[in-house]
Amino acid sequence: IILPLVLIIVAYLLGSISTAIVASKLFNFADPRLNGSKNPGTTNVLRLGGKLAAAFTLLGDLLKGLIPVVIAKSLGLSDNWIVIVAIAAFLGHLFPLYYGFKGGKGVATAMGIFIGINPLVGLVVLATWASAAFAFNISSLAALIACLLAPFFFHLVTQSAAFGIGLLVITAFIYWKHIPNIQNMLMGTENKISKK
Ligand code: G3P
Repeated sequence: IILPLVLIIVAYLLGSISTAIVASKLFNFADPRLNGSKNPGTTNVLRLGGKLAAAFTLLGDLLKGLIPVVIAKSLGLSDNWIVIVAIAAFLGHLFPLYYGFKGGKGVATAMGIFIGINPLVGLVVLATWASAAFAFNISSLAALIACLLAPFFFHLVTQSAAFGIGLLVITAFIYWKHIPNIQNMLMGTENKISKK
């Protein structure tokens, strides 16, 4: 019990590091919490800081989900513990200790969690996200499509109730954080990824 509890705390503290905010300092662009969509995430970093900074943010936020899950798996923890560790990392990104509990929407961190739980299914979800982003040119819509499919894909492939339910919880949080994006889409004012 001690080992998983320590890992849960470490996962939350790691998840709390905002790659978008670190990127804004490193690459010297405007604070993503105060500019653009005001979300500290990959999409908003792309708007404010360009492609390299966005790739850095995507990778960093993804690793925050991936690393704790890989550690939990390598320690031989049960699916229940693995998913709790994953949710701790995810909640760190949404409610970060270091930034007054105001964080991001969790899509990239969820992608890291998906890849950590099952690399093949994770990459399928990631590819769904990328294809939908390319097809619709709207980042939030792509995330909502990919994250809705994820719990079902995982439950089907892993046959694990823990993963099915745990990932459904993550998806529910992602939908809740995207309510403003959904409202913008309904009004036709949601930002496009590239302006063409
Ligand atoms: O991952 C967040 C993305 O789905 C939407 O970001 O900045 O357009 O609200 P943003």
